[in-house]
Formats: sequence, C-alpha cells, structure tokens
Amino acid sequence: MSRGAIAVLSSENLVHNIAQIKAAAPSKSIIAMVKANAYGHGIRSTAIRLDKHVDSLGVASIEEGLALRKAGVKSPIVLAEGVFEPDELLIAACQNFHVVFHDPTQLDWLKGLSLPLPLVSWLKVDSGLGRLGFSISDAPHALNILKNCLYIKQPIGLMSHISCADNPDHGLNETQLKAFNQLANNWEGPISLANSATIFAFPQGHYDVIRPGLFMYGVSPFKGKKASDYGLKPVMTLQTRLISVRRREAGSFIGYGATYQCTEPTNIGIIAIGYGDGYLRALPPNTPVLVNGEKCHLVGRISMDMAAIDLSQCKDAKVGDPVVLWGEGLPIEEIIEDSPLIAYELLTGVQSRVNFHWTMA
Ligand SMILES: Cc1ncc(COP(=O)(O)O)c(C=O)c1O
Repeated sequence: MSRGAIAVLSSENLVHNIAQIKAAAPSKSIIAMVKANAYGHGIRSTAIRLDKHVDSLGVASIEEGLALRKAGVKSPIVLAEGVFEPDELLIAACQNFHVVFHDPTQLDWLKGLSLPLPLVSWLKVDSGLGRLGFSISDAPHALNILKNCLYIKQPIGLMSHISCADNPDHGLNETQLKAFNQLANNWEGPISLANSATIFAFPQGHYDVIRPGLFMYGVSPFKGKKASDYGLKPVMTLQTRLISVRRREAGSFIGYGATYQCTEPTNIGIIAIGYGDGYLRALPPNTPVLVNGEKCHLVGRISMDMAAIDLSQCKDAKVGDPVVLWGEGLPIEEIIEDSPLIAYELLTGVQSRVNFHWTMA
C-alpha cells in the first residue's frame, strides 16, 4: 500500500469553472492566473488544460513562463510583475510574453534596447493597493515613454489590482474604481482590473480583460461564501488514507506537546498526511475531515507526515479507508472558517511529495 497522500485534480471542474466565469463576465478576454504553480495545482498540467479555453496565462516570473513554453503551451503569457532584469526583455519578445511595466526602473531598461520583435505591454497603475504600479498622476508620463519606444507594440494595456474586493462593502473598493476610471475612461488599449472577487462583486470593474485565479480553481475568496454559491466546483481534492485505528482510553494524550487528551474511550485514527505535505500545522484542532464520506475532525497537533483524527462519528472506519482533507464534499472554505489561514496559502502550500492525479476531461 502506498502512502496515500494524493491531490485529485478535476479537469472537468476546471473547464466548468472557466465556463461559469465566462458567463459572469460575458465577452471579456481572460488572463488565467497560473502563477505559484497554478495555486498549487501544477503549473504545466493546469496551463495545458486551460490553453484552448482562455486568451492568455498569467505568471509571476520569466521562469514560470518558460516552463509553460517548454510544456508546449501556446497562448500568450503575461508576466504579471514584468521583468526583473533587462535581459529578460529579449526572452519576453521572442516567447510572446506580455510584459507589465510597474516601475520607472523597468522603463529605464527600454533605453538603447533593440529587439527582434515588438513587445506587447501593460502599464500597471496603483489605484490604492499600495503594492506595484505607477501612481495615477505619474501614469501619463510612463505611458509616453512606452508610446515612444520603437519596440513596444501599440496600443498599450492598462492594468491595476483591487485590494479589498473580497470584502465588497469595504469603502476602498469604490475609491479604487473611481481612481482607476480617471485613466480608464480615455485609454486607447485594453484595460484589466478584475481578479476573482472583482469579477463576481463588481461588474463595472470587468473592463476588457479579466484575471481570475482562485475562483477558477473552484474556491471562493469571499468570507462566509462558498464557491458553490457561484456555481463553481473545487478542482483539487486533497485526500489520504487511515494508516492506524486504535481505541484510546480516557485520559490518553494524542500527539506532540500532549495538547489533546481523550475525555472518554475514543477511536483515534492516524492519517498519512502532515505539514511536510502542505497540510499545515497551523490548522486548528477540530478542523473537519471526511472519513468514508462522514465528517470527523482533527485532534492534537499535525506532525510532519501524520495527523490524528477522532473517529467517533465513523465507528466502522478501518486502516486503508480514504480521508478527504478538502475538495469534493468538503469545501476548503470550511477548513479555513475558524483559522487565520487563507485558501490561497493552503492550495499553494501542497508539496510535491503528494501524488498529483488529473481526472480526464
Ligand atoms: C495581479 C493579479 N491579478 C489577478 C490575480 C488573481 O487573483 P484571485 O486569485 O484573487 O482571482 C492575482 C493574484 O494574486 C494578481 O496578483
């Protein structure tokens, strides 16, 4: 029997989610965000499945983009943080990587540049997130530099990112939309603002090109809402198996630090997954798991390769039975409900020693 920690990835659900996103933002172009190993789903395998369903793919670095080209991905690839060194501009031009310019240093790298092909580019502005991008007032000057560069394809795109769209009532959303509109209203090229939360909460923020990430993987960014509320399905189901089932006496301690003590005789199961797989130690006691489809919960601390669960709700459970940590039947939103963790962190944290298995589309 192999260890059993496996991430089952649903091609059907991925394609279904893209269709739902298209229905929510009809006739918009899509940059599918596959950075950070496609949110832990596997950057190559995910991008190959998305290639013919979206307009382009969004990555965080040239290395991620090159990995996709090596895997045979044909779509344009957007370097969401642009290039990190001037030499990368040549690679970007040759590989049909679309380049975001967010900082004056990157514009300096255009001086004296010579490229075999013109670059598709985006000007990123900071509409209020306080992360990357030119200020609204500096944007016209930056745009002029791009417009006057022989190797920049015209027209240039306009991009920004919203900081609080996952909390639609937050006042900064309207402020950011208003600030962004000052530029967007008279912009010649394509315009892109919307991440997953913006797509579903602010249709006025769709503009020309949307950039879904989390929702595409079938997870909701909104507190108190599940992706299923929006007709989306989880792409990843993380599961493992029971490798031990023991009756523990009242008073028995479970796990490192003896943080849990059985108050009565209890069936305790040990599952083959731990923080070394990305099942994070910060997950609180009582985190739900599904054993043979029945909801049970964690007890004690998660260790590197194993975790303990109370099997009181699943009396017939035996060694070898499957245990779902999140995904089909147990939305990841439920796992993080009472924890400071976010779904992005759990998904991107799944480690390569977990077996990844895609279902057929
Ligand atoms: C620039 C940019 N656009 C889009 C996204 C996608 O966001 P989400 O996963 O919330 O849809 C991200 C994610 O971090 C991002 O950094």
